[in-house]
Amino acid sequence: MERENWTSRLGFILAASGSAIGLGNIWRFPYITGTNGGAAFLLIYIAAIILIGYPVLISEMAIGRRTARNPIGAFKKLAPDTPWWLVGALGVLSGFVILSYYSVVAGWGMSYAVKSIGGFADGTDFAALFGSHISSTASPIFWHAVFMFLTVAVIGAGVVNGIQKVVKVLMPMLFLIIFLLIFRSLTLEGALEGLIFYLKPDLSAINLQTFVDAISQAFFTLSLGMGAIITYGSYLSDRDSINESAGFVIFFDTAVAFLAGFAIFPAVFALGFDPAAGPGLTFITLPAVFAKMPLGALFSFLFFILLTIAALTSSISMLEVVVAFLVDEYGWNRKKASYFMGFLIFLVGLPPLLGYSSFSNFRFLGMDVLDTYDWFSNVIFLPTGGLLTAIFVGYYWGNTNAVEEANKNSNFKIGSSYRFLIRYIVPAAIIIIISLSLINSI
Ligand code: TRP
Repeated sequence: MERENWTSRLGFILAASGSAIGLGNIWRFPYITGTNGGAAFLLIYIAAIILIGYPVLISEMAIGRRTARNPIGAFKKLAPDTPWWLVGALGVLSGFVILSYYSVVAGWGMSYAVKSIGGFADGTDFAALFGSHISSTASPIFWHAVFMFLTVAVIGAGVVNGIQKVVKVLMPMLFLIIFLLIFRSLTLEGALEGLIFYLKPDLSAINLQTFVDAISQAFFTLSLGMGAIITYGSYLSDRDSINESAGFVIFFDTAVAFLAGFAIFPAVFALGFDPAAGPGLTFITLPAVFAKMPLGALFSFLFFILLTIAALTSSISMLEVVVAFLVDEYGWNRKKASYFMGFLIFLVGLPPLLGYSSFSNFRFLGMDVLDTYDWFSNVIFLPTGGLLTAIFVGYYWGNTNAVEEANKNSNFKIGSSYRFLIRYIVPAAIIIIISLSLINSI
């Protein structure tokens, strides 16, 4: 069968931006920025995105388009009879693991969207509500299944008829919702203080850990290190420019992360809640904030729909990696591969889901099951995948090949700075973050 291609440049940009824009932007970025020095963190983060994220993003796109294969097939094609294919295999494994718990969290979001419609009773204790939601079983399992089913349905339908069609509808919706939420948030009395908290540069909050957080976030948010972009790049036609598409993806991804803070902090301040709530901000603080504002039920619903859309356009790119592998390497039918893998991933997601009930005794380095999956993905799998990809391009496949592929039909050309970054800066930065994260965890 002929390999599908995105039918327009916009299709690819939206798909890759959809992969990039996810829970990381809406849930994680605002709270790490707010608690890590505001605008000072933002500057470090943008530097990390440009100096580390951009070169790796271009490299993955170039590997994908040059080989027109899933990550394992791609490394096999560029480096036959060597163990480099293991980098692709690590990617496929990461996709499997990340999707399994990502779907659990997305499922919480969907169930909160539905809960929002009815509104929350006066005086609801939102921390207790969230605790009882995640430690129940029937509802989280149901929503995890629904979310996996949606992911499978999109991927089963194909690259053009599934992914591209869906992102062309969902990404504009996502932008629209985020602007509605920002408008609501900024028009509340006392909103300004939230902006000050979010963005006021606080140099005293900057330390080594800030750099580690910025670089890890840059990596995670651009969906790097697991071959998702290699896979999406493999459907890219020669007519399109890699350098420019990657530029758009970075722009959209950074814009949404930045804007999510505008939707969140002014409202949190205006209604008198604690902005430094950390990971609980999304499921505990925000529902409480919405409950207190005019038309809160509507905005709460919109917020959780936003979260769901962001998660879905990311989850499809994770499943696509796994499915493309079975389709390319073993000739599986796409639908069958999607349903089969989707079901397996659903099962792998059950332990983290039950980590707040049946498996609540589980601890690894003090973490519950979901945090353990997340730790392996973010501290080990993705950085290792990114490091090996950079080394592969910089020293084996040859950065000249990558540059040639990336510059094809690009007005904006890359060259010696890219070579320098991919050979020296990216590997050094990743080795440092892996080491520091390991030291911190143990
Ligand atoms: N970028 C996604 C987010 O910000 C998460 C993510 C990490 C991801 N790695 C990925 C998504 C690989 C798709 C593929 O939430």
